[in-house]
Amino acid sequence: MEIQGLVEAIKSNHQKSEQLDIDDNWSENSSAVFDYCENHLIKMESLPAYVTLDNPGQRIPEFGILNNGRPIEDILDIVKEDIVTPGLNPASGGHLGYIPGGGIPVSALGDYIAAVSNKYSGVFYGSPGAVRTENFLIRWMCDVMGYPKTAFGNLCSGGSIANLSAIICARDAHNATGANAEKSVIYLSEQSHHCVMKGLNMAGLGVAHVRRLKMDDEHKICADSFKKQVEQDKAIGLRPFLLVASAGTTDIGIIDPLDELADICEVHDLWFHVDAAYGGFFILLDELKNRFKGIERSDSIVLDPHKGLFLPYGLGTVLVKDKTHMQNAFRFEANYMQDANEFMDETSPAAVSPELTKHFRGMRMWLPLQLHGLAPFKHCLKEKVLLTRYFYERIKEEGFEVGNYPELSVMTYRFVPEYGDVNAFNEALMNYVKDDGTVFVSSTKLNGQYMLRLAVLSFRTHLSTINTLIDKLVEGKNHLLKQA
Ligand SMILES: Cc1ncc(COP(=O)(O)O)c(C=O)c1O
Repeated sequence: MEIQGLVEAIKSNHQKSEQLDIDDNWSENSSAVFDYCENHLIKMESLPAYVTLDNPGQRIPEFGILNNGRPIEDILDIVKEDIVTPGLNPASGGHLGYIPGGGIPVSALGDYIAAVSNKYSGVFYGSPGAVRTENFLIRWMCDVMGYPKTAFGNLCSGGSIANLSAIICARDAHNATGANAEKSVIYLSEQSHHCVMKGLNMAGLGVAHVRRLKMDDEHKICADSFKKQVEQDKAIGLRPFLLVASAGTTDIGIIDPLDELADICEVHDLWFHVDAAYGGFFILLDELKNRFKGIERSDSIVLDPHKGLFLPYGLGTVLVKDKTHMQNAFRFEANYMQDANEFMDETSPAAVSPELTKHFRGMRMWLPLQLHGLAPFKHCLKEKVLLTRYFYERIKEEGFEVGNYPELSVMTYRFVPEYGDVNAFNEALMNYVKDDGTVFVSSTKLNGQYMLRLAVLSFRTHLSTINTLIDKLVEGKNHLLKQA
């Protein structure tokens, strides 16, 4: 094609693709989206925590993708009816299952700034401000956890990837690769989150020995039996190298005896990893700080702002006490990155994580912390702890059996009817609450028993929510007893 022909073709394509930038429809489209979101937020309190539909999201595939787009009203209709409505409403205060968080709205504004500016937050050279913002948040979390200046970390998508990153650092620091992997021993508790096993497999440690440690009556790792197991493993020529403990288990919210475990790891030169994805931010409460004693002695910690800081899903953190382990595990060099390597004022996220191009996810955390300050976050965490204790007392009064006294904001309970299958009764009770949909709870198995769980961590969960749950449970229990 001659130059003139090329120019004409370029102009024609430019004209037809111009709508990808802000155009005459921008203000109408953005207003429609903001109006929809604002309306959703205003109605949040009246929305159910769980919606059961016959064929949820069925219009999505047939909606397809058109060559020339479609009006925002049609799209928002699908968003509302088929995407946002069905299933769990994790933004609702009535979400009391799994590990909620709620998703504070200001965080969405942070995401908006990050997406509009599209700052390249993987490399300092590309975006010094974005990288300094994320590194500042990482150093703040290191301080909160009592880590020294040698520590560093990474903001990633969630707790699973954060745990994987810590496992990779531990593996490489202890040379648990190749032939060593098969002789390596990793210690977990029955209460470890399943993403730890996934992470071990992904890190090539599926071939290693995994010891599920004995637990005490409170489902905490029994330090004595851990010590004995390590000694036995060493005596038979194995290579113990990693302990994964929890500061806030998913099932029941307990904290392992971190200080005692740290002693053993020190003596036996084990990498001590603490999964504090759910519970870590409770350390911000002076009255709970002592329960985390020993976490500062760990080699790595996972901490999820999308749980304990109530951010929307998409932000987990790995902290590693000695930054060089992250740099060794995730180092990279490429010819096309040679300009970037000269700018080393700050460590780039890409140098300490598997990601290169990444969402500027620090903004979704930095903006709320700047705008609100820390105090409301602490009060919110305190409120969740108190609500869990309140539920514990009230549900016991209603004749339910309760598990451990809540250490943080997760606990288990069940109803034991005089006759019949207890597990089946509680499963039916959970389904009763789920079908009603006002609030949402989840269940687990402890010592082979079906247990209902309460997990209070949505910033929108308040006293009225817990009272509603109690009412629903009592109503459901009475209904099932009548049916029996
Ligand atoms: C203790 C703990 N670790 C890890 C995870 C996994 O985190 P994510 O779901 O963010 O990947 C969870 C999730 O609930 C958790 O509770």
